[in-house]
Amino acid sequence: MHIGCPKEIKPQEFRVGLTPNAAREAAGHGHHVTVEAGAGAGAGFTDADYVAAGAAIVETAAEVFASADMIVKVKEPQPVERKMLREGQILFTYLHLAPDPEQTKDLMASGATCIAYETVTDERGGLPLLAPMSEVAGRLAPQVGAWTMQKANGGRGVLMGGVPGVGPARVLVIGGGVVGTHAAKIAAGMGADVTVLDRSLPRLRYLDDVFGGQFKNGYASAGNTIELARAADLIIGAVLIPGAAAPKLISKAQLSDLKPGAALVDVAIDQGGCFETSKATTHQDPIYDVDGIMHYCVANMPGAVARTSTIALGNATMPFMLALADKGWRKACEDDPHLLNGLNVHAGMLTYYAVGKALGIDVMSPTLALKS
Ligand SMILES: NC(=O)c1ccc[n+]([C@@H]2O[C@H](COP(=O)([O-])OP(=O)(O)OC[C@H]3O[C@@H](n4cnc5c(N)ncnc54)[C@H](O)[C@@H]3O)[C@@H](O)[C@H]2O)c1
Repeated sequence: MHIGCPKEIKPQEFRVGLTPNAAREAAGHGHHVTVEAGAGAGAGFTDADYVAAGAAIVETAAEVFASADMIVKVKEPQPVERKMLREGQILFTYLHLAPDPEQTKDLMASGATCIAYETVTDERGGLPLLAPMSEVAGRLAPQVGAWTMQKANGGRGVLMGGVPGVGPARVLVIGGGVVGTHAAKIAAGMGADVTVLDRSLPRLRYLDDVFGGQFKNGYASAGNTIELARAADLIIGAVLIPGAAAPKLISKAQLSDLKPGAALVDVAIDQGGCFETSKATTHQDPIYDVDGIMHYCVANMPGAVARTSTIALGNATMPFMLALADKGWRKACEDDPHLLNGLNVHAGMLTYYAVGKALGIDVMSPTLALKS
């Protein structure tokens, strides 16, 4: 198969869909890999790295799209990229179609077979191609929270780990899933006094069993949440209710209950945010002040560490990418129902029910798509 990897063109996107190591594996399986010049630069990979891995470098995205049977990317294709897709071509990338009718319409019109990272599943009911980015955002949250707490950034001027004779920062993590667990591990590793709240008792049991010695946990009742929030120097929002906007767990009125200069890091901002006063920010201008409380609400946190994020994403996508290339999309999806769950668009039809419901578009069953 011809596998193509263009340079990402969405503003502030520095990741790349194929790492040199993934390119090497694909070439080792006998596939032709074509990468656009400079595609890996934002993640610290040179064209020479790809050539050494067995890939060919071409100057333009148009050449990549023209020659590839399968396009591997990170972000949803932008309008100019969507025009270059063609019937029968495979697109393997993040799509997030539910809130994006324009993209959905264009992908259907292209006739391409589009497999979305975010809806591929695993045997434990997880989302294996979203998890690496949650791990990155979770581990980054205490790092940016520690920075936000610094005096020059408007924070309380509290050091995460304290020093001998001075107690550590108190960190409250709301939501103990992938983001919350990784955030808590890192915050505890920095020496902070950490509590994680969740509403799932099985999750709390897991956190207690595995991390009981490293951080505390508690049930996320409204009363418990505000009581612990009052005592916190840093609060990390990491909740998710699948398919729904994030619940608002701290209201604007409650900001006056918090310590002056406390830091709120709202990782759930991509689902609308879990603090009433959250609004999305960028890496260029990440923090703002509401009533003396510092808010960090960057919607694309993994972009700050593009190299780590690219490699983490590449490790997770590689087995699926190789299966698609080795077997073709039909056989790969027939053999793996979790990969079939990633099928969102095929030959002009939408094939993912939740997107169809959100956009009011008829859906063809993915199993029927396998036979079409
Ligand atoms: N900003 C970014 O760059 C970025 C990157 C990755 C993930 N995210 C977002 O981070 C959020 C968390 O993702 P995740 O992968 O950890 O999800 P997850 O499903 O692994 O964990 C979410 C947890 O929230 C808990 N929860 C739900 N409602 C709650 C409530 N009211 N109070 C307390 N806990 C509650 C759930 O029980 C679950 O354990 C999501 O909104 C995700 O989109 C953002």
